[in-house]
Amino acid sequence: MLRIEDGQTIRLEDYRPTDFILHCVDMTVRLFEGRAEIDTRLVLERREGVAEDAPLVLDGDELTLTGLALDGAVLEADAYTATPDRLTIRQAPARDRFLLDIATRTVPEENTKLMGLYRSNGIWCTQCEAEGFRRITYFLDRPDVLAPYRVRIEADRTAAPVLLSNGNPTESGDLGDGRHYAVWDDPFNKPAYLFALVAGDLDSIREPFTTASGKPVELAVYTEKGRAGQAGYAMDALKRSMVWDERRFGREYDLDVFNIVAIADFNMGAMENKGLNVFNHKYVLLDPQTATDADYAGVETVIAHEYFHNWTGNRITCRDWFQLCLKEGLTVYRDQEFSADERSATVQRIGAVRRLKAHQFPEDQGPLQHPVRPTEYKEINNFYTATIYDKGAEIVRMLATILGEDGFRKGMDLYFERHDGDAATIEDYLACFEAATGVDLSHLAVWYNQAGTPTLSVHEDYDAGTDRLTVTLRQSLEPGAAGTRTDPVHIPIRFGLVGSNGQDKDAVPTQGPDVEGDVIHLTEAETTLVFENLGERPYLSILRDFSAPVNLDFAQSEADRLALARLDPNLFNRWSVLNDLIGEAMVRACRAGGKETASPLPAEIVDAVLATAADPALEPAFRAQALALPAEPDVARMLGRDVDPQIVHDVVDAARRAISTAGVQVFERLAAEMATVQAFSPDAESAGRRALANAALAYLTAATNDPAAAEAQYASASNMTDRLAALGILVHRFPDAPASQAALDDFYRRFETDELVLDKWFALQATVPRPATLETVIALTGHARFSMRNPNRVRAVIGTFAAGNQLAFHRPDGAGYRWVAERLVELDRLNPQIAARIATTFRSWRSFEPTRRGQAEATLRQLLETEHLSTDLGDILGRSLK
Ligand code: ARG
Ligand code: ZN
Repeated sequence: MLRIEDGQTIRLEDYRPTDFILHCVDMTVRLFEGRAEIDTRLVLERREGVAEDAPLVLDGDELTLTGLALDGAVLEADAYTATPDRLTIRQAPARDRFLLDIATRTVPEENTKLMGLYRSNGIWCTQCEAEGFRRITYFLDRPDVLAPYRVRIEADRTAAPVLLSNGNPTESGDLGDGRHYAVWDDPFNKPAYLFALVAGDLDSIREPFTTASGKPVELAVYTEKGRAGQAGYAMDALKRSMVWDERRFGREYDLDVFNIVAIADFNMGAMENKGLNVFNHKYVLLDPQTATDADYAGVETVIAHEYFHNWTGNRITCRDWFQLCLKEGLTVYRDQEFSADERSATVQRIGAVRRLKAHQFPEDQGPLQHPVRPTEYKEINNFYTATIYDKGAEIVRMLATILGEDGFRKGMDLYFERHDGDAATIEDYLACFEAATGVDLSHLAVWYNQAGTPTLSVHEDYDAGTDRLTVTLRQSLEPGAAGTRTDPVHIPIRFGLVGSNGQDKDAVPTQGPDVEGDVIHLTEAETTLVFENLGERPYLSILRDFSAPVNLDFAQSEADRLALARLDPNLFNRWSVLNDLIGEAMVRACRAGGKETASPLPAEIVDAVLATAADPALEPAFRAQALALPAEPDVARMLGRDVDPQIVHDVVDAARRAISTAGVQVFERLAAEMATVQAFSPDAESAGRRALANAALAYLTAATNDPAAAEAQYASASNMTDRLAALGILVHRFPDAPASQAALDDFYRRFETDELVLDKWFALQATVPRPATLETVIALTGHARFSMRNPNRVRAVIGTFAAGNQLAFHRPDGAGYRWVAERLVELDRLNPQIAARIATTFRSWRSFEPTRRGQAEATLRQLLETEHLSTDLGDILGRSLK
């Protein structure tokens, strides 16, 4: 691999191709209770120009070698060195292709890291991205080593009637003794991280699909026994994704089969293995009784995301892991566009921007910041981050904004044409767009290399005498923990000059360069634009649709923003001006010490929120967004330093009460109007009505300070969205009411057998906003249904507590920090990837007031002293303290 000796740090600048070329892979995997035997045959060849005495070095991870032969001859013990994490063959043939046969043996049942081959509820499955294949066999385990694979699986027919791998099924049969086999052939070159194997007693649903050019494909979704009835929506989302990618990007599916498998124990959301996507069952299994509207939207997005990877990730993969955003940022952009087309584009964009600000902004503004294309890492699994995924998607979105729809499509077409079958880089990607459109993207490229969120400062000046509007735009970037440069980048700024009639004026500047249609191209540190003959002072609507991932610094008057909240033809900006006004008012109230919390929101802002919520011309989902206040962590982020979570909580609570008391009539009307009588349908429009009705219910119970309405809805709910919304109000707002405990108990009894619903039951209790919830989560980890071995359960209790309970995790006595730290030590021994992920919840520790900051630092320092920490957790802790 790349320079491992240097204290584990892998550097982009050290990239060089492998000494050996891999031509093909042939594997036989024999599965037994308690062990797996893996025979791997590789066809290899020394690359031209590589020294004849250069050894062949293969990656391993906790492996046991049981056999080794070169061109059919067993290798003598002095011809190689095998350790659990490396196999070195001293003398490989100098010129010709040669065969290497490697036999390894593993114990999938004991693989608690859930990387490589493991067993989940009796099902054998694999996860190889990023470096899991080396836990199955010794290999050149890096994304630029591509080959076709043939895989034969053998297993007991009763334990595993279903045997799946990548590619197309070619052969199957009986082996006697109750055993059988299947052979899979994947003709497409792929890196090992896309390898997959599944074997088990699974149910499935199947559907035929015909691609645009007439190729038949057999689609299947596999689940644990008895759960296939919950896979219908996933199948539907898959078919819609396939059609969308044909229409929008001209991309068709390429194998005879496409299989999805839902697994209960899974480290991440899902994985795009070629022809065999493996999913956390959370992103497959659904029905109205057990899943919320948010769950439906999540399944649709993740199904689409993994399917879209077939072209952006699989047909064209990454040269090295530094290029991870090449497939992830691009594929997130594609799934966002899909959801925007399938649902409401504005509401989808609001959701994406909320998530970006909640997850990526704090990452980019704290010690774990890194550029979208990092230049070094210690543990690649720690780089599957909001920055790589979501900021990576924002860069692709800016590219599309800069080039326009046609130019962007031309560049994508060229990318698919030029690089099909390649392991590519960001430079390769950008070069296609430059070649296809002639546009200079050098300032856009800078986004990939610089960490941190740039600030876009806007200053406007209207002179009534001359009817001239002068707009000055400035960009700046603070140096941060990553130590990257702070050069100006290309910021595409979508804008409009809104007249008092609510229409955009013709906005062609008479001075100032680089405006194309409704996009200002800011590529320098500063620019000034002048608009003339406007007829009146317009309202400046800036950064429409959040056209760039920046902090907007614009002291726009409250009056102008309230006018835009009513008038702006760009609906996204109607939401964002209002949301910013609310956020800024909350920040002011927090800075004042939370003393005047009677109402942190001026009456005009409350009125604007209520007017938006009540406006029948707007879609219900959008109106529900207007009612969703900034959450406590959002306010903490806006405060930036010396955060006191108790004050933040009180201010957010007071803002909620201010809206609820002023809006009782509006909410009563909405609750009645939005109540659905028809049978449940998961479509976006129906989901929007439920969201608005449930927002109204939450405000109504706050106004009356009476849980009765929530209690009634809990009891009569006909779907999980309404039931969980009611339960959430009861448990979070009335934690001590007898009705709340009764409802929690009822919920448990109703859904006891459904692990995914139990996760909701655990998570809801872990997020009750009060310091004493620490005692609740301590009890929950002792619950019979809690397990440290199921990542979903760990995330539901420990993860949501640390990430979603600001009051209790950040208790001033430090007990929240210490408890999470102790769990991390336990978890690290079982599953370092999950431990490292949950440890990132400490990342903003420096932004809290001195008492908490001191407690957090002491806890982190002590944790870092723990013996035998994994590289994963050690890396996160080390960087967090930097
Ligand atoms: N490629 C997968 C996806 O985005 C995620 C894999 C995550 N791997 C990891 N080691 N965290 O769909
Ligand atoms: Zn992905």
